[in-house]
Amino acid sequence: MRVLVIHGPNLNLLGEREPEIYGTLTLDEINRRIRDEAAELGIEVRCFQSNSEGAIIDAIHGARREADAIIINPGAYTHYSVAIRDALAAVALPAIEVHLSNVHAREEFRRHSVIAPVVRGQIVGLGVQGYLLALRGLKALAQE
Ligand code: DQA
Repeated sequence: MRVLVIHGPNLNLLGEREPEIYGTLTLDEINRRIRDEAAELGIEVRCFQSNSEGAIIDAIHGARREADAIIINPGAYTHYSVAIRDALAAVALPAIEVHLSNVHAREEFRRHSVIAPVVRGQIVGLGVQGYLLALRGLKALAQE
């Protein structure tokens, strides 16, 4: 099984960005945890980060040939990017939306996700564990 993990805008600053909300792990450390978990589960994983909507859409399109499933933290694009939602709907791969923080316990605008209707499920508020659980979930779903 091949999984593409997509980290959206501002997540390259993890570790220094609002650590009281997003924790102190850097994106490299998070990706290392993801790779370790994937190796244990026998999943081939590729991690990708971009601050640009178009690059994220291109990565989703590329997943048509290169991946069997997607894990995506779309960052702030979660709340308004119809283009990323349409890309996920177009490729129709099983996808899980992950948020490090509990978006429901924060500002009102973070409660709405335009991505949620086109993904298999969401994991929010569990920090790095959200990505690891998403890997496990995708594997279990594939084996059902
Ligand atoms: C986030 C939540 C978003 O609202 C925010 O814009 C982010 C990070 C999270 O992982 O908690 O950039 O997706």
